[in-house]
Amino acid sequence: MAITYEFIKECKQTGARLGKVHTPHGSFDTPVFMPVGTLATVKTMSPEEIKELGANIILSNTYHLWLRPGEDIIEEAGGLHKFMNWDGSILTDSGGFQVFSLSDMREITEEGVHFRHHLSGEKLFLSPEKATNIQNSLGSDIMMAFDECPPYPAEHEYMKKSVERTSRWAERCLQAHTRPNDQGLFGIVQGGEFEDLRKQSAKDLISLDFPGYAIGGLSVGEPKDVMNRVLDFTAPLLPKNKPRYLMGVGSPDSLIDGAIRGIDMFDCVLPTRIARNGTCMTSIGRLVVRNAKYARDYRPIDEHCDCYTCKNYTRAYIRHLVKANETFGFRLTTYHNLYFLVKLMGQVREAIKNDCLGDFREEFFEQYGFNKP
Ligand code: GUN
Ligand code: ZN
Repeated sequence: MAITYEFIKECKQTGARLGKVHTPHGSFDTPVFMPVGTLATVKTMSPEEIKELGANIILSNTYHLWLRPGEDIIEEAGGLHKFMNWDGSILTDSGGFQVFSLSDMREITEEGVHFRHHLSGEKLFLSPEKATNIQNSLGSDIMMAFDECPPYPAEHEYMKKSVERTSRWAERCLQAHTRPNDQGLFGIVQGGEFEDLRKQSAKDLISLDFPGYAIGGLSVGEPKDVMNRVLDFTAPLLPKNKPRYLMGVGSPDSLIDGAIRGIDMFDCVLPTRIARNGTCMTSIGRLVVRNAKYARDYRPIDEHCDCYTCKNYTRAYIRHLVKANETFGFRLTTYHNLYFLVKLMGQVREAIKNDCLGDFREEFFEQYGFNKP
């Protein structure tokens, strides 16, 4: 099997899982946060920097790489790892979500999705087979099944049809998969906020025996308590001996609350996206370094951070760079934000090891300001 999950222990206080995922490009400790490199680059960062800040797995996108530069070019280059000079693990999303979030005028059929390019208007078609073939060409360690991610809220009746179609599509992805020995294909559980449909979806996918399972259709505008409730009844449906991935979630509070509910893997554009408009994550909450009040502030972004940015640069300098649209400013904020989340997950793993993730959550929420009214 291309992907294996090694369970290490459960936190006695919360039930969170400590583990390790083994892939053909090395292993990573879980729970893990995966930086997003949509276009075969984590925006503004070199692969060496991503390694240095402690990430061993990144996420990239089938949808974007298919359209530009084209998976044929990446395959000819020797695969995505070689193309972008990243020798760690790579997970690729299937395009299922991007088709729904980015494209206009889509038409969903049993065969696949017809839609128009989000920039050029060109007519395009993506199907389970096509999304799988593209990911086989890219050579990612973990591939995702082509799914439908319905909006929130959606009617039960629509969601049921969608879940059933996503299950049929998942089976077609498995059938089309040509490299099961060196690429692991994960199924994606859908079903929105409905417990019966999450159960149905999990049951369908588990019967197909994927090497890992994702929970999709969350972080699509629902309140946090809805997400936590869905995780409460969905995560326990999944096999204990395989990794569980919560797609598109990356705010510090949700990472901790997801881990507590038994999630092993997370990804999100949040840290890298907000970095590029001058917003930093710190141990006491968000810091908008663009703000005028930092013009003469010669302290680091986060006084408790020991990252490259915080060891060497001041808020005043970074504010100046960001306001002047200087690339280096965005590099510094991106580095810090990724370091912050990667380090947070290290702290979460340490707390699981010591059976005290519940205490860690209390302290972190207090500091970060989540408990404030
Ligand atoms: N990214 C965030 N949510 C989803 C989802 O539901 N499906 C897929 N394929 N990607 C996602
Ligand atoms: Zn820092």
